Amino acid sequence: MSSNILLGITGSIAAYKSADLVRNLTKQGFTVRVVMTQAATKFITPLTLQTLSNQPVYLDLFETGMEHINLARWADIILIAPITADFITKLTYGNADDLLSTICLATTAPVTIAPAMNQQMWNATITRENCQKLRQRNIKIFGPAIGSQACGEIGAGRMLEPLELVQCLQNLVLKQPLQGKQVLVTAGPTREDIDPVRFISNRSSGRMGYAVANAAAIKGASVILVSGPTALTTELPTISVYSAKDMLETVMANISNTDIFISVAAVADYRPVQQIKQKLKKDSEQLQLVLEPTEDILAKVTNLSKPPFTVGFAAETNDLDNYAHKKLITKKLDMIAANLVGIDDSGFDSINNKLKVFWNDGNIELPHCSKIELADKLLDIIIKRFFVKNL
Ligand code: CTP
Repeated sequence: MSSNILLGITGSIAAYKSADLVRNLTKQGFTVRVVMTQAATKFITPLTLQTLSNQPVYLDLFETGMEHINLARWADIILIAPITADFITKLTYGNADDLLSTICLATTAPVTIAPAMNQQMWNATITRENCQKLRQRNIKIFGPAIGSQACGEIGAGRMLEPLELVQCLQNLVLKQPLQGKQVLVTAGPTREDIDPVRFISNRSSGRMGYAVANAAAIKGASVILVSGPTALTTELPTISVYSAKDMLETVMANISNTDIFISVAAVADYRPVQQIKQKLKKDSEQLQLVLEPTEDILAKVTNLSKPPFTVGFAAETNDLDNYAHKKLITKKLDMIAANLVGIDDSGFDSINNKLKVFWNDGNIELPHCSKIELADKLLDIIIKRFFVKNL
């Protein structure tokens, strides 16, 4: 169970509540380390927080050497409470000009925030827009509460009470249903060489697969990502592969301890029979490539004597339900997530997507939204079916 909470405190009068928050978190068994911005130290002293957390308090990016990376790795969850409008903007745009913002950029832990500010600032269009962007990145926003404010106004902008925040974190920890589970995800396209300078591939960007891997990690799983060539980066343990054959070998080498296998990769179905050793010359009117089928990775996995819970993806241009259902049965999948490609702003190479998920006796449509939000929703469905199957 997650227990290392990195508490970020920024410069708001609500920082006085942070002392109580540290006390309540430690009482509930969490280990708390506090990182303060310079502005926060105007409202509450580091000594107070150090005494209550029984841990050093971190203030300065330049005095701490590589501590920002160590803290980023140490944290199971980051909570910034209170977070000011200014720090929300920093977080939105990925600034890294102080210790806390640098840690937020360097961590793979879920980041949560509890805003505290004047109600007008909370309702400002730019704050709303920033919060919307943070939500799309799966950053959880706790509160703010409505009530009387330190500035004398009444409205939304009060930081949640320390006990409420403890509850929020406990819910989050308990919502890590994949703790102790191993999840293997494939992502991106594969490349099948024609000659030393040319290959056959497809439009997959890898975004959906990376989002799925990330969502599984946020839900507590140990994740291995097997990725074809993409322009994406991730902090998750990743094995880069090139061709369908490489991907197959890597998946099979890592499948034995896998509880859930999610095959998001757009694996090439065919490869050139011959990979020509020297660059092909333009010396004929027509050129015919002879292709042979690649091995189906999913089918290979589901035919193991003890296959993991297996989820496939299907990208179709037409007849979605029919094809998806057929793949569910023929590949012996527990679940398949299907999407129509080549229409509007969905599918290959786009930020957004929508999915229809099928399993043996049901299906559900997940509406058009960012691939990050979609991955979170998809994981919730996978978890439900996985636990039903393993009851
Ligand atoms: N897949 C795989 N190995 C392959 C081809 C596909 O594991 N050699 C997986 C994909 O990762 C995906 C699912 O199978 O999860 C469906 O892939 P898709 O390309 O939609 O279907 P195909 O089985 O290749 O059928 P078709 O191309 O005819 O639609």
